[in-house]
Amino acid sequence: MKLIADIKEMQLFSNATKKTGKTIAFVPTMGFLHDGHASLLKKGKEVGDLLVMSILVNPAQFGPKEDFTSYPKDIKRDMALAEDNNVDVVFNPAADDMYPAGFQTFIDIEKLSNRLCGLSRPGHFRGVATVVAKLFNIVKPDIALFGGKDFQQARIIKKMAQDLNMDVDIITMPTIREADGLAMSSRNSYLNKEERKAAICLYNAIKKARDIFDNGVRDADAILKEARNIIKREPLAVIDYVKVCDIDTFEDLDTIEDRALLALAVKIGKTRLIDNDILG
Ligand code: PAJ
Repeated sequence: MKLIADIKEMQLFSNATKKTGKTIAFVPTMGFLHDGHASLLKKGKEVGDLLVMSILVNPAQFGPKEDFTSYPKDIKRDMALAEDNNVDVVFNPAADDMYPAGFQTFIDIEKLSNRLCGLSRPGHFRGVATVVAKLFNIVKPDIALFGGKDFQQARIIKKMAQDLNMDVDIITMPTIREADGLAMSSRNSYLNKEERKAAICLYNAIKKARDIFDNGVRDADAILKEARNIIKREPLAVIDYVKVCDIDTFEDLDTIEDRALLALAVKIGKTRLIDNDILG
């Protein structure tokens, strides 16, 4: 496995790889890897000849009051996990090289970014789209893989690739969960024992919503009321949003015709967790 930190070196490596006719699969991450990341790497190895993973805690996607400085890091463990998952190249650029003084070009996916997490995290998706576009220009992947846990992010990246004619296929993979159902996330490491127990309310709310939907209820308010009640019963949890919305546009739905996205963001203590499910 190769470790590349230099941007130009990564570009040259990708150019040389593509000249031999090999395809590049790419998994961008912010490190502190878990089995959710591993599932993307496994798929990446299947669909591409060469597997590149990036690790960068991207300053552009954190708000001023968010956890950029405290975001968990363990590069040694990440390298071991990458090796175990047959990653060929770990690209680990310095944030200062990605955003040198004078940097001023950003990508805005206008409508999709102004819903769900975009409302509570202004500028977040602008930072995500910008860094992913930059990473695509550096790594030059044929295929890039994203997790369905961050459903809005994956949708926004797909839209960006389509709107800007980026020559890359975007694959979205299912959410990987802990044994009790909590969606895996690097941020779960912030939770103390009590909070970890409380965090299960997100998955319980999803299960409740799914039960009601499976029993034939199509009224979004009726589903949301029950899902919100599950979270409200948990003293350590504070709802940011719980929504039933259109799977493509993220616009709120009153009635579910065919299928819908159930999306939630909940604060457990100081830690903001997200989860989602497709109803239908
Ligand atoms: P990060 O949170 O490290 O996640 C990297 C990738 O892993 C994302 O595509 C995310 O959706 C996926 N992932 C995280 N948890 C998952 C889970 N439980 N199951 C399946 N996939 C999961 O998302 C980011 O980093 C950044 O925003 C990034 C795209 C790298 C841009 O900076």
